[in-house]
Amino acid sequence: MMSETFRTLTLDLGDRSYPIHIGPGLLAQAELLRPHIPSRQVMIVTNETIAPLYLDRLKASLEGLQVEECILPDGEEYKNLEILNRIFDRLLEQRFDRGCCLIALGGGVIGDMTGFAAASYQRGVAFIQIPTTLLSQVDSSVGGKTGVNHPLGKNMIGAFYQPRCVLIDTETLDTLDDRQLSAGLAEVIKYGLIDDPGFFAWLENNMDLLLARDAGALAYAIERSCADKAAVVAADERESGMRALLNLGHTFGHAIETGMGYGEWLHGEAVGAGICMAADLSCRMGWLSQAELDRVIALVRTARLPVLPPRQLPPQRLRELMAVDKKVLAGKLRLVLLKGIGHALVTDRFDQSVLDATLEQVR
Ligand code: NAD
Ligand code: GLY
Repeated sequence: MMSETFRTLTLDLGDRSYPIHIGPGLLAQAELLRPHIPSRQVMIVTNETIAPLYLDRLKASLEGLQVEECILPDGEEYKNLEILNRIFDRLLEQRFDRGCCLIALGGGVIGDMTGFAAASYQRGVAFIQIPTTLLSQVDSSVGGKTGVNHPLGKNMIGAFYQPRCVLIDTETLDTLDDRQLSAGLAEVIKYGLIDDPGFFAWLENNMDLLLARDAGALAYAIERSCADKAAVVAADERESGMRALLNLGHTFGHAIETGMGYGEWLHGEAVGAGICMAADLSCRMGWLSQAELDRVIALVRTARLPVLPPRQLPPQRLRELMAVDKKVLAGKLRLVLLKGIGHALVTDRFDQSVLDATLEQVR
């Protein structure tokens, strides 16, 4: 079925620029994909949950090519080097060469793993992102961060490697459960807080529509999120500066995910609590007013996300886990904090006692 309407954004990276197509029914629009597939060899990487839902539809649109599939187990706990190797096994078994193309069909776990496989198979082959969760549509599929987890730290093994195209079929959200939808909203809220206060206000007014899966509201939130992210990545692809702002809430969030065991708290849930913790710390530093902190917490709560870390992780444990963050430089923890809604900054200039107070909040 042809999509009636779709929108295209461009992530501007010179000769590595790529389109982000957003709209309903795009999985079946082969003409959007084909220009980005260098040869006949295509490996679709997906998982056992998504395959029965969308694999056949995608394969049908790639008719005439040598399309193989690699179906991984489903879950954050499988985002590791051992499972990654299965992608290489499939590529080598099928004698895929340097002209091949990998297609990630799934959420952020599949996207991150497929991208990393593409970055390292024969020192780099083409790949396309087809994100199917809200979180992956608004964040992980755009910008080229790829990788896997290590038992000692989240996303610690990886590469910057850009896809050739991102195809967002908004209809795939129809099969996503409510908990996963909320997890994606955490990353959407993040953009408003970083540098888009108008979007934050829009979210305050439209969160109910998003939770009710209003197609127009979701498409708008996805497009605005991708546009915000694309602008940051175009300016700082390898995170030497402002891209670190996209990690708002993530230092706290990654500590929660790692500490609880991968897969226990969803990434977006951990980010939701992490955003509130970053806002709480900012308020304690006098950078965010109490009224603004209340707005942040209210929006995260309305999105049906946690606003506090889990009881199982006492402050000392959170501190240890936060010390493994990729933003740590020369042993110093740096955090993304807020100087008002829509004004994030990366800083190591916060009081340790204030951080302790944030970590010690009553759960
Ligand atoms: P996920 O990939 O685990 O997907 C969530 C669940 O939804 C899975 O069970 C999946 O099988 C299922 N699913 C996916 N699409 C579906 C659909 N359309 N219908 C029904 N079920 C569906 O989780 P996620 O939230 O998409 O991604 C989280 C991962 O993304 C984390 O590993 C995180 O580190 C990573 N991430 C990466 C970046 C980046 O810039 N690369 C940014 C944010 C997050
Ligand atoms: N999700 C953070 C980034 O892409 O930089």
